[in-house]
Amino acid sequence: MTLVADIDFFRQKIFDFYRLHRRSFPWRETTDRYAVMISEIMLQQTQAERVVPRFQAWLQHFPDITHLASAPLKDVLTLWSGLGYNSRAVRLHHCASIISDSYGGIVPSHPQLLKKLPGIGEYTCRSIPVFADNLDLAAVDTNIRRIIIHEFSLPVDTPASKVQELADAALPHGQSRDWHNALMDYGALELTSKKTGIRPLTKQSKFHGSKRWYRGQLIRELVHSDIMFLEEIEEKYGNCPWNLVEILSDLIHEGLVEPLESPCNGVRQGFKIKGG
Ligand code: ADE
Repeated sequence: MTLVADIDFFRQKIFDFYRLHRRSFPWRETTDRYAVMISEIMLQQTQAERVVPRFQAWLQHFPDITHLASAPLKDVLTLWSGLGYNSRAVRLHHCASIISDSYGGIVPSHPQLLKKLPGIGEYTCRSIPVFADNLDLAAVDTNIRRIIIHEFSLPVDTPASKVQELADAALPHGQSRDWHNALMDYGALELTSKKTGIRPLTKQSKFHGSKRWYRGQLIRELVHSDIMFLEEIEEKYGNCPWNLVEILSDLIHEGLVEPLESPCNGVRQGFKIKGG
């Protein structure tokens, strides 16, 4: 078989599957680039079903870049809660202010411009114009990488450049949006990571009790109680195996949390969500 025949067969198989099993999601009902950007960032590392209510609530509160850019970080984190990786929300908020200041509040359509924004990488700078504008480009995330490796019988350690080459060759021109939706559905419903044994490149460690879990807990606490003092935090999370002061200082450096300017009684160190 030639590569062209392989690609023809592959396209047919994916689109046949899609005709029978396509999933319906609210972000598939819009071509608004801002809404697509929100969905793509929420969908990084969070299951699609869990994203649905968060995506809908988010668009109610922040219907466009202007609303998001002018919202306090605390509101942004509240709307993000449950999605994990709060730093993604901080970056998204930062993105909104850059887009508001430098692009007149319109999410850029060009992948090279998107890639300059915080939190937008190789996959997302392509997936936004793919889903919003049907741009003829192949976006490869961990699901699509797994499909290509499996369907073309490639070794699991195939370099990303080779996978991208095949994804480019397989893209049916003029049908980019449908094609990527079809690949997403095939990867989620049929060719799962469990079925193929092909794991994402970055395997996540056990979450509960991890350092990232403690970070998430601290942020949740701060979102719900305007201010917290170090003693309260140390008392509540006394069995944290990591240095809480170090975690707080990381959160301050990342722009999520700020220390209170002058400790209220001169000795107690307090913390709050940045700008909250
Ligand atoms: N994961 C990333 N983008 C997606 C999409 N548009 N639909 C479903 N899952 C996705």
